[in-house]
Amino acid sequence: MPDKKPKPPVKEEPEDFLTLDYNNVTSEALGAGKGLGPEDLAEMKAALGTAFKDIEARYRKGLLPFMDLPRDPDVAKASRKLAEMGRKRFETVVVLGIGGSALGASAVFNALRPLNHNDLPPAKRGWPRLIVCDNIDPEGFAAVLEGLDLKNTFFNVISKSGATAETMSQFMIVFDQLQRTLGRSAIKEHLLITTDPEGGVLRKLADQGDFNSLPVPPGVGGRYSVLSAVGIAPLAMAGVNITDLLAGAARAQEDARKPPSGNKAYVFAGLNYMLTTAKKRNILVMMPYSDGLSRTGEWFGQLWNESLGKSVRLDGSPNPWSQTAVKALGVTDQHSQLQMYMEGTDEKTICFLGVDAFRHQVNIPSIFKDFDELSYLGGRNLGELMASERQGVARALTESGRPNMTLSLPKISAATVGYLLQTLEVAAVVSGSLYQINPLDQPGVELGKQFTYGLMGRQGYASFKDRYAKGLSVKKKFILK
Ligand code: PA5
Repeated sequence: MPDKKPKPPVKEEPEDFLTLDYNNVTSEALGAGKGLGPEDLAEMKAALGTAFKDIEARYRKGLLPFMDLPRDPDVAKASRKLAEMGRKRFETVVVLGIGGSALGASAVFNALRPLNHNDLPPAKRGWPRLIVCDNIDPEGFAAVLEGLDLKNTFFNVISKSGATAETMSQFMIVFDQLQRTLGRSAIKEHLLITTDPEGGVLRKLADQGDFNSLPVPPGVGGRYSVLSAVGIAPLAMAGVNITDLLAGAARAQEDARKPPSGNKAYVFAGLNYMLTTAKKRNILVMMPYSDGLSRTGEWFGQLWNESLGKSVRLDGSPNPWSQTAVKALGVTDQHSQLQMYMEGTDEKTICFLGVDAFRHQVNIPSIFKDFDELSYLGGRNLGELMASERQGVARALTESGRPNMTLSLPKISAATVGYLLQTLEVAAVVSGSLYQINPLDQPGVELGKQFTYGLMGRQGYASFKDRYAKGLSVKKKFILK
C-alpha cells in the first residue's frame, strides 16, 4: 500500500531540513531534578522503541493514511490544474472552513507567500489573494464579503463532515450571494467543494449540483489533512510551490520511519512525554521566532491539543497526563509572556522554532555612534538581533532551570515547511502511542456542538436545548452589571 513511487528529492536544499537541539532539557544543563537525567532518557528510549513498533504496525495496516499524503500524485495534479485556471481568472480565493480545514492552509500561506501577498498589486502578486475565513463573527465575515468582487472571486468550502455549523452557514451565505449576484449557472465556475468522498450533505450538494469537488481522504482527520486537497488546492491557487512542499514532507515521512533514537519526530514526542510525565511540565509553549512561522504555531496548537487532550486511554482507564500547547511569538512575546515563563509556576517547556537564514535582511544603519545604548546596534542587521534574542532567552531560561528546546529550519522554503509539518504530525501520533490514547479523534468538542445545535433548533437536538434551559434555571447570583 505505501509503495507509490517516491518524489525525487528537492534540489538545491541543505541536507538537514530541520534540526532539534534538546541540550537544554537535560539535567546536565538545568541541574539535577530539573531536567531529564540519564535514567529518564533511557526510559524514553525504551518507550519510543515500543511506540515505533506500534506505529509501524498501524501504518502497515493502513490505519495512518495521513502518512502517505505527501506521495499522493492525484491531489497535486488536480491542484495544479486549478491553480493554472485560477491564476488567469480570479483575483481572490476564499477558503471557508474551520479548525483542521483552515489552519493548515493558513499556516503554509503565511510561511511561503510574501507576508504582504494579499496587499500587493495584482501584477506584482502574480497569483490570487488567499483569504481564509475561519470564524463566524458577523463583523469579520461582513467585512470580508464587503471587500470582495464576486465576479473575480473563487470560493473553496472545506468540511470533511459537511456538517460543521460554522462552515456551512458561511457556505449558505456565499452560495446565496453568488446565486443572486451572478446567477445559478455561474456558481459552478466560482466554487470548489472539498469534503468526504462519499458521505455528508456537502457531498450530496456537490454531486447534485455537479460542482467541482475534491475529496478529504478517508481516515484523515482535519488536523492531519494539510497535505491533502484540504491544504494543497487553495495553496496551489495562491502560488505556493506545492511540489517542493510535498517533496519536503515526503522526505520527513521517510525519515520518520527510521529507528527512533535519531528520528526527530520520535525524539520530539519522547522528550515532551518525559518532561510531562517525569518532570510535570504539562504546558508546551511553541514559540516561533519568525513572522512567517507565526501561524504554524497556531496550527501546531490545534494538532497537539486536539490530539493529546484525552480523558481516557485506549484501554478505558483514566489518562492522567496531557501537555497543553500554547503559542507565543518571538520576539514580540518576550515583552508580554516571557516573565511568566522565566519566573511563573515551573510547569512549562518552551520550544523555540527558529530560522537560521532569513529570506530578507534589513540592515541597521550606523548612526547615533555617540550613544553607547545605540551604537552596538549600528552596522548589524535585524536577523542577527532576532537570533541573538532567541539564543539569549534560551540561555536565560536554562539558567533559571526552565527546560527549552529548539527546532530550527535552515531557511523557510516549501521543502523545509513541508518537512516540519509532516514531522510534527508524526510526533503527535507518536505521542498518542506513548500516552496510550487515541490522537486521531476529538470527542471533547462534541458536547458543545450538540448544545449549539439544540439552541439553533436543529432537529433531533431538542434535549440539549432542554438541558441548557435546566442550567439557566439555577438561580444566577453572580452577574455584575
Ligand atoms: O481536526 C479536526 O478534525 C477538527 O478541527 C476539524 O477539522 C474541524 O472541526 C472542522 O471539521 P470539518 O472539516 O468536518 O468541518
